[in-house]
Amino acid sequence: MAETSAVDVGVNRKELFLRACCGETLPRIPVWMMRQAGRYLPEYREIRANHAFLEVCKTPDLAVEVSLQPFRRLGVDAVIVFSDILIPAEAMGLKLELGDAGPNLPEPVRTAPDVAKLNIFDPESSTGFLPEAIRRIVRSVGPTVPVLGFAGAPWTLACYMVEGKAKEGFATVKSFFAHEPETFRALLHKIARATVPYLKAQIAAGVAAVQLFDTWCGELNRHDYEEFALPAVQEIISGLGGAVPVIYYTKASQHLLPAIAKSGANVLSVDWRLDLADLRAQLGPKIALQGNVDPAVLFGPANKIQEVTRATAAALGGKGHILNLGHGILQHTPVEHARMFIETGQAARFAEVAPAAQAR
Ligand code: CP3
Repeated sequence: MAETSAVDVGVNRKELFLRACCGETLPRIPVWMMRQAGRYLPEYREIRANHAFLEVCKTPDLAVEVSLQPFRRLGVDAVIVFSDILIPAEAMGLKLELGDAGPNLPEPVRTAPDVAKLNIFDPESSTGFLPEAIRRIVRSVGPTVPVLGFAGAPWTLACYMVEGKAKEGFATVKSFFAHEPETFRALLHKIARATVPYLKAQIAAGVAAVQLFDTWCGELNRHDYEEFALPAVQEIISGLGGAVPVIYYTKASQHLLPAIAKSGANVLSVDWRLDLADLRAQLGPKIALQGNVDPAVLFGPANKIQEVTRATAAALGGKGHILNLGHGILQHTPVEHARMFIETGQAARFAEVAPAAQAR
């Protein structure tokens, strides 16, 4: 894709992205959107009209095509591979249905024998479609565009594996760890042990960074987060050994900071409930931040989209910041509004500081 003047600052997208992950101040900040490949795009809906969701995930030709759609149409600064956080749950041995009503796991994990039965799968033989899609995306976009891999964080994946679906309050999974803390810990540890090779396979296939999605960690109080969720995230991040930057997404998690900052992630991705400048003041300059425009802002009006995007882009002065939404883009978002978010973010300019002069 040809660089347009709004995005061309003499540094390619991959360098911008990687330098933002390292906390550098950049002439412009990278911009992408969680769930950027999805139903708000007519070309995605066209593919989904003929192919089931899991079929798209498991067919590299289709996964590559939908991963590239937002890059072609909107010129986003990163391409996230099309997949789902529940793919490893299936590879660990659970039945998985992903229909219009959302995910359903009809045989959820409820007992110690259920945990013992789960497999630590080989990612190339069980989920080889994913590294294959990544290799093809990397080949297609070339060396100047970052491709992102991802996985669910163990707690969030465990919520689906135990509840069977997303449920208000998560009573079943909370009751699981209250009654059988050691079994629940074993489940999180098993998910972490499966996730490390799964992400390493994505890294070997060429991703520039990986994101861990912990959408439901905000359901926990700080004690339970530190007791259960955090150690399993730390296990994954240390298991990756710094091979690529790790972005850790959490939602509604203000009560969990600064425990979240101990995850070992290079970048914390947060939602609109947090103020980015306050968070930077609290955590210091070593942890880069991603976010955090409310996806509902993209319903407009146009002047509001620009105002919020500019203010969010300005919040950290271009230092250690990847501009994104605070959660996935919503299904009925007008494509032109998504474009406005991307282009407004890419047009923001900051004074570049020579790398040697930057405090690290
Ligand atoms: O960001 C991207 O564009 C890459 C693809 C991606 C999807 N899911 C595709 C998807 C990513 C990174 C995810 C992550 C994911 N999946 C999370 C964490 C982030 C978040 O949104 O909270 C979670 C919790 C899931 C589980 C999941 N998958 C749910 C709850 C649903 C149903 C809700 C919905 O939006 O339909 C899915 C299905 C899903 N995953 C869709 C997409 C594009 C929609 C399915 C469709 O096309 O019909």
